[in-house]
Amino acid sequence: MNTIVTTRAIGMPLDRVDGPLKVTGTARYAFEALVDRRVYLYPLQAAIAAGRITGVDTRAARGEPGVLAVLTHENAPPLAWAADPEVAVLYSGEVAFRGQLVGAVVAETSEIARHAAGLVTLDYQERAHDVVLRADRDDLHKPVNAAFFGAGGGELQNGMPADTALGDVEAGLASAAVRLDATYTTQMCHHNPMEPHTAIATWTDDMLTVYCSTQGVTRTAELIARALGLDPQQVRVIAPHVGGAFGSKLYPAAYAVLAAMAAQTVAGRPVKFTLTRQQMFSLAGYRSPTIQRIRLGADAGGHLTAIAHDAIGQHARTKEYAEGVATCTRMMYAAPNRRTTHRLAALDVPPPTIMRAPGEAQGMFALESAMDEMAIACGLDPVEFRIRNEPAAHPESSLPFSSRNLIACLREGARRFGWQPRDPAPRARRDGRWLTGTGVAVSTYPSIQYPGSAAAIRVGPDGRYTVSIAAADIGTGTWTTLAQIAADALDVTVEQVQLQIGDSALPPATSAAASAGISSWGSAIVAAARRLHARLESLPGGNVPVEGVEVTAPMPDNPDAARYAMHTFGAQFAEVRVDEDTGEVRVRRLTGVFDAGRIINPKTARSQLIGGMTQGLSLALHEHSVADPRFGHVVNHDFAGYHIASNADTGSIEAYFLDEEDPHTNPMGSKGIGEVCCVGTAAAIASAVYHATGLRVRDLPITLDKLL
Ligand code: MOS
Repeated sequence: MNTIVTTRAIGMPLDRVDGPLKVTGTARYAFEALVDRRVYLYPLQAAIAAGRITGVDTRAARGEPGVLAVLTHENAPPLAWAADPEVAVLYSGEVAFRGQLVGAVVAETSEIARHAAGLVTLDYQERAHDVVLRADRDDLHKPVNAAFFGAGGGELQNGMPADTALGDVEAGLASAAVRLDATYTTQMCHHNPMEPHTAIATWTDDMLTVYCSTQGVTRTAELIARALGLDPQQVRVIAPHVGGAFGSKLYPAAYAVLAAMAAQTVAGRPVKFTLTRQQMFSLAGYRSPTIQRIRLGADAGGHLTAIAHDAIGQHARTKEYAEGVATCTRMMYAAPNRRTTHRLAALDVPPPTIMRAPGEAQGMFALESAMDEMAIACGLDPVEFRIRNEPAAHPESSLPFSSRNLIACLREGARRFGWQPRDPAPRARRDGRWLTGTGVAVSTYPSIQYPGSAAAIRVGPDGRYTVSIAAADIGTGTWTTLAQIAADALDVTVEQVQLQIGDSALPPATSAAASAGISSWGSAIVAAARRLHARLESLPGGNVPVEGVEVTAPMPDNPDAARYAMHTFGAQFAEVRVDEDTGEVRVRRLTGVFDAGRIINPKTARSQLIGGMTQGLSLALHEHSVADPRFGHVVNHDFAGYHIASNADTGSIEAYFLDEEDPHTNPMGSKGIGEVCCVGTAAAIASAVYHATGLRVRDLPITLDKLL
């Protein structure tokens, strides 16, 4: 990998270039696009969890003044592509989950649309539904693969096997001096980005423009075109600013397809559609709950001899989707005997989807909690126990790591946190009614690139360069960091770079997902800059900027991707106190140290890391979507019932990085940072709660009822 040599802009803690727009409220999000003669869509949602619609009566709704159209499966324009049930909106009368989109009212105002939606009568034939995940179900099945995405996921399908085995795990466990066998569970969570899922669809002549809150304009445009049977050139998706996503705006584009379909039926009128917060609890994906059994064996010296991780999750009956919950265990620790498995239950539930650190967020809670329990059983400090089991290479593939500075993260974190001196005995420290404890866990997430992006660079006047790529900024800092990468690649200042992103009319880009954005888009920009320099050098006059010269370059293949295991690492330390009488848990301090390669922008990177750690804290203690088995919906489907960690819930959160260049990942030497930061946090907190109280909570979230 040929890395960038000049780094004047990379590494600078620049303010976000879009910051002033955002703090003054002038950054235009999808729903704020200015469109004339707009109309509003309000969706109809299934009132049963399983069955089919047998009767539709829309007369009263259609008779309301101001109503332009009422769409159901009976009269919706037929879709050209319905292979994916998440996209095939209003395709049939089948109901696969409560809350499914089954129709839409389009009206002059949002109030009329909502009122008229209440006048539509739907009759159903129900069948018995089943929404409860249990480990003893006899219908658990092995998925095709354990990926970020199941069938239909396109760019995110990475085909990891569902099961792996090496050596003889049962023999390794049987002969171990110390053994652990424990089951951990994680809860259903909803992403809840601040900005809801939104689309404005508008037809002008033969062109469909969709202002859409999405993690990927290129992919969303492709999906809409395919679903509606349009030429890809006819669909343009625009998203300059996105108010958070966490995975929920990557793939399930039914809201965008429905708005586009409605715009076809009210020709010439732009259709505005936004999900309400409550609707997001059935229409925007969620993180699957999991049940995970971990078995560990170690010799008398505290070296692991066997590791087994068996994970169970759920998906919608209509669409297989498997998260790599146990894949972290394949690469984390050395042990000669090992196995991982994934099993799934198909339920009458909405389709789950990736949610920040899909797989690792859940899997590393289990593995790292087990590692803490095992360290205690071996009589070793949890930091020392992990260092003792650090692998020299990937334990299953034997590939070398492109960089793996996990031990440095542990040591640096322990130093900054003040890990020692630490009495390992639980309930050793107290402050009045507050029992105090500390815990540690490590973080990891793959650092990958997706092929499919391209960047264009055009020489402008006055030494300026226009850099174009259909990348997304979902709140992460893309507007700023890509400009920094472009500046160094072109060997100019950031001020000379005019960046264009968030528009599918630009050169294509893969979505902001899997912590792969900067690696993928940045590599394409560096390739384009190199091509531009070569072009300019070939012109008479040598390597001087010539206004109007433009090049486009795809992201090149990285041959090192097949030669190295590429992962980001981190270590997180937590101090908690637990009220002895009420069981209330407060996290006083979280310290994270991350090995994320070269840091493009320490300011935006730190924000992402702190945000992820906060989300990890929220997973540990607060977030929990509670499904009602009788009706199949999430009971606490609003912010009164679904608590997300706020300022008052977080004590001091500190994030640091080692900032060492990875020589193999990409030309910037960076690794992904968006997701690793919410991995391991919950295990660190759960272990700190154990240290404080002597109670090991293996079921997230750690609510006070589990401590009394
Ligand atoms: Mo991210 S959960 O891979 O969008």
